[in-house]
Amino acid sequence: MEERLVLGICSSPRPGANTDIALAAALEAAAEVPGIRTETIYLRDYPDIRPCQGCYACSPPDQSRDSKYACPMHRDDDMNKIYPKLLECSGLILASPVYFGSVTGTMKMFMDRTEPLLRYGAHNYKYGLRHKVGGGIAVGGNRNAGEESTIQTIINYFLIHDMLPVGSGPQRTPGCYIGGGATTWPNDKDSGKNGILKDALGLQSCRNLGRNVAETVIRVGAGPYEVDDFTCLSPLA
Ligand SMILES: Cc1cc2nc3c(=O)[nH]c(=O)nc-3n(C[C@H](O)[C@H](O)[C@H](O)COP(=O)(O)O)c2cc1C
Repeated sequence: MEERLVLGICSSPRPGANTDIALAAALEAAAEVPGIRTETIYLRDYPDIRPCQGCYACSPPDQSRDSKYACPMHRDDDMNKIYPKLLECSGLILASPVYFGSVTGTMKMFMDRTEPLLRYGAHNYKYGLRHKVGGGIAVGGNRNAGEESTIQTIINYFLIHDMLPVGSGPQRTPGCYIGGGATTWPNDKDSGKNGILKDALGLQSCRNLGRNVAETVIRVGAGPYEVDDFTCLSPLA
């Protein structure tokens, strides 16, 4: 059986810090599920992700543009290295530090640049994330200081992409119900980059989420659309 990819995307600017640790915990648990392989993208390694210009060149009115480029505006920036992985994956876990109660600017910039993968996109990118499984992780400094709203932002993103967002799985006390939620400062403000290691429950919620994303991928048979799969879909009248 070909293994299905659960892709993790992390938007912490700090290598090896709390959000990296949270995502690694989730992906490690995901990889324990037979039939699943994992990969990680750190957005900080892709410094040339330019902001969406809102030009809609990616979504022509007749939806027929068969383009080599997902985004005709930014043809050669770093998003072009990430789009193929988004098309390839079956599950997607987005992990962000909490910045002012929401995802980081880099994560939002990434999100906006996936407009070409929506229902309006060009032939070869359209429905790029549709019916794939999604999980959200938020790591905050303070407890109850935006972790839930950050995960909710990620869940809304999944819903807009027609994805299948999942929560933290069947364990009786999963640590967080709607994703992976962890906090760092109350545990050890001085440790700065790895206070999360003292948030056992938070890390557990990340593991539960990763496991649940992977199990759901297998259970529903989530995977990439073949280009021809969607040409036969007729929209509801
Ligand atoms: C610009 C900025 C805004 C932040 N806003 C919040 C916030 O609203 N709520 C919160 O709990 N922590 C906030 N934090 C703290 C980070 O979420 C916290 O340090 C987190 O662990 C960082 O993740 P990292 O260690 O992976 O970089 C903020 C940090 C920065 C730099």
